Amino acid sequence: MSPSTQPCVTAPQLPLYIDNGRLVLHQILGVGAYGSVYRATDTQTGQTYAVKSLNKTGLDSRQRAFQIQEARLHGAVSGHPNIATLHRVIEEDECLHMILDCGSEGDLFYTITEREGFIGNSLAIKSIFNQIARAVMHCHSHGVYHRDLKPENIIMFGESVKLVDFGLATTNETSSDFGCGSTFYLSPECQGGYNEQVKSYDSAANDVWSLGVILINLVFGRNPWKQACLRDDTFAAYVANNDFLQTILPIRGGGGPTTVAAPIDAMAATAATAAVGDVKVSKADDKKATKPDDTLCGNGDKDSGIALRSLE
Ligand SMILES: Nc1ncnc2c1ncn2[C@@H]1O[C@H](COP(=O)(O)OP(=O)(O)OP(=O)(O)O)[C@@H](O)[C@H]1O
Ligand SMILES: [Mg+2]
Repeated sequence: MSPSTQPCVTAPQLPLYIDNGRLVLHQILGVGAYGSVYRATDTQTGQTYAVKSLNKTGLDSRQRAFQIQEARLHGAVSGHPNIATLHRVIEEDECLHMILDCGSEGDLFYTITEREGFIGNSLAIKSIFNQIARAVMHCHSHGVYHRDLKPENIIMFGESVKLVDFGLATTNETSSDFGCGSTFYLSPECQGGYNEQVKSYDSAANDVWSLGVILINLVFGRNPWKQACLRDDTFAAYVANNDFLQTILPIRGGGGPTTVAAPIDAMAATAATAAVGDVKVSKADDKKATKPDDTLCGNGDKDSGIALRSLE
C-alpha cells in the first residue's frame, strides 16, 4: 500500500505512514475535536508508540499556538513514570504529531466502566490514586497545571497509570479561563464560584478538586454530581449538608449497600472534599470547554446523556 502522509484527514484509511515512512499508524485509539490518537509502530525498531496527530489546517494563529503549547507543556513534564513520555514531536504540512508511550489496556475511564473497575479493591485504588497524585505533583512542581484531569486522560499500563492530554494545560498559577476543563471535574471556582463571584482561580487547587472527583470515581464507580454548581441538586444538597456524602454513597456506616474498606473510606471522606450523588461515571468530553475563552461550562442539555456507558 502506498504511504499516505495525511493522518489528520477525516476518516483516514489505515495504515498511514508519517515521518518519511518511519512510523506506521495502524489503529485509532481515540478521536478528539482537534485530531486523533493512533497506535503506531516504528518500522525500523518495531517499537510501539501512541501518536497524537493534531490537524493544523484551517486553524488561526491562536489555535496553532495552543497546539504548540500542548506539546511544549507535555514535554516539560515528560520523563516522570506516571506521565506518558513525549518522545518526539513531528511537524508535517497538515499535522503536528506527538509521539508518546502507548498504553495497551485503554484508559482509566474504560477500566472503571467496562472492566469492573476497582470497587472493593482498596489496594489497587490506593496504588492508582497515588500514581495519579504523583503525576500531578510533578506537573505542579514544574509549574504546569493540567486543567483536564479525568479518567479518560489517564492511560493504563498494566499496574501503572500515566497521565496524558495537556491540551488545556497552563503555566499560569492563577487563571481566569472559567469553564476550562470537563464538566464533572470542574471546581466551583473554575465556574466562577458558587456562592460568590470570583475573578480568578488557583490552577493547582483546581486540579486537586478534579483529583477528588477521580477518587470518587475509583472508589464508587460514580460521579459525585453532574456539575459542582448550585443549579445541580446533588451539589446543592452537599453545600447545605456536608454529611450528604454518607447518606447516598455506599460508605460503611452511611447506610449504603456496600462496605468500603477503611483506608479508602477515609480517603474518600477527606481527600476528595466532595459529596457524592448517584451520578454514574460517564463520558465527560461532550461538555469539555475546547480551549480557554472559547466556551464556558453549562453549554446546553448534553448532561442528559450522563448515564451512558455507566457502572451500576
Ligand atoms: N499514550 C496513549 N496510549 C494509549 N491510548 C491513548 C494515549 N493517549 C491517548 N489515548 C487515548 O486517546 C484518547 C484521546 O487522547 P487525548 O485525551 O490526548 O485527546 P483529546 O485531547 O482528549 O482529544 P479532545 O480533547 O479533542 O477530545 C484518550 O482518552 C485515550 O483513550
Ligand atoms: Mg483527552
